[in-house]
Amino acid sequence: MRYKKIPAELFIKNRSQFAEKMDNNSVAIFNSNDLMPKNADQNLPFFQNSDLFYLSGIDQEESLLMIVKKESSIGSYLFLRETNDLIKVWEGEKLDKNNATSISGIKNVYWDKSFEKVLNKFVSDCSVIYLNSNEHPRAEIIVETRDARFEKWIKKKFPNKKYKKSTDILYPLRAIKDDLEIELIKTACDITADGVKRVLSFLRPGVMEYEIEAEIAHEFIKSGSRGFAYDPIIASGQNSCVLHYNNNNKVCASGDIVLMDFGAEYSNYCSDLTRCFPVSGRFSNRQRQVYNSVLRVMKSAKKMLCPGLGLKEYEINVGKLMEKELVDLQLISLKDIKNQEDLPAYKKYYMHGTSHHLGLDVHDVSGSNQPLQPGMVLTCEPGIYIPEEGFGIRLENDIVIGHNENIDLMSKIPIETEEIEEILNN
Ligand code: GLY
Ligand code: MN
Ligand code: MN
Repeated sequence: MRYKKIPAELFIKNRSQFAEKMDNNSVAIFNSNDLMPKNADQNLPFFQNSDLFYLSGIDQEESLLMIVKKESSIGSYLFLRETNDLIKVWEGEKLDKNNATSISGIKNVYWDKSFEKVLNKFVSDCSVIYLNSNEHPRAEIIVETRDARFEKWIKKKFPNKKYKKSTDILYPLRAIKDDLEIELIKTACDITADGVKRVLSFLRPGVMEYEIEAEIAHEFIKSGSRGFAYDPIIASGQNSCVLHYNNNNKVCASGDIVLMDFGAEYSNYCSDLTRCFPVSGRFSNRQRQVYNSVLRVMKSAKKMLCPGLGLKEYEINVGKLMEKELVDLQLISLKDIKNQEDLPAYKKYYMHGTSHHLGLDVHDVSGSNQPLQPGMVLTCEPGIYIPEEGFGIRLENDIVIGHNENIDLMSKIPIETEEIEEILNN
């Protein structure tokens, strides 16, 4: 791994919080992700299953975690792909049992061939089996995951057991970050900040969007990040109105805004930033006007984020702020608002949500309707997209919810128009 070792205390605590909420006499099983095939003899880079990582820190394929709660005592068991000299020659070092214990804090580490025997021992007198699955509300899963294959297998093997979803316990826990996790997200944000610095000294008319992407990638990888936490959006001119644009293959022309939505990954944790810079170094009056509208909404929205708030209520309130800005910009009228039916009038120019959880996943998981709590990390990312004027503006920072005050992990990254213009022109 490229990242510094994460203290095992984090994973010990995560497992203990999960186990505390398990039924007595139950077993929970978590599978790693598959190594996904590309073409011919190639695979895509390996991405660990976020739930397994959260509970163990194990970042290797073909791993399996079992948590057993029996008579209120808790045991953790880890199963790894058995390594050998041939694997060592072709793929390099894999986890041995001692390393796996040191990373995860789990003392009971076995090779995967022992799994069924250990499983049989614990399942025989357990009443509930927790199975893991991707329950993100927007997940569209076409390929059968290792967890899904496992579910078929175990339900056939033990058809009379009671099965529950582990995510009902796990997602509300994952939403509240430990201080160690916040440190890792902060490291990802700091690497992202270095990427922004590099873009500010590189941007000029005539550069290709993918050249900007390459500058950022260089900064990320040399800092110990695996790279982008998600496909970066480097969208100049009209492209800045395409929400998920990532062809990044157009030239940045003088007079254009370039909207850049990118974030570094670090130790599997994500950062998520958006900035909009004028390619020629100066915003036009209209670009500045729209930019400042978005910035005002962002500043107010950041202040709204506080413990106890529900995200649905928050989005409604941000929508009201946006509505006022769009009227002032003469993009919508009071009549449009009066005549709006199911869809608020402001949605014509602001069609996405303002905040999402951030963590091991860029659109991180949480409990359904879980109100905000200290330790949660959310983005704040309002935007206004005006295709008829050839540009869109989005601004995005990552915020830690505090008891009394929030921490903006991106507060040092230039955001005021004057500051950006000054840097671009010096
Ligand atoms: N970069 C994805 C998002 O902002 O939600
Ligand atoms: Mn985001
Ligand atoms: Mn983003």
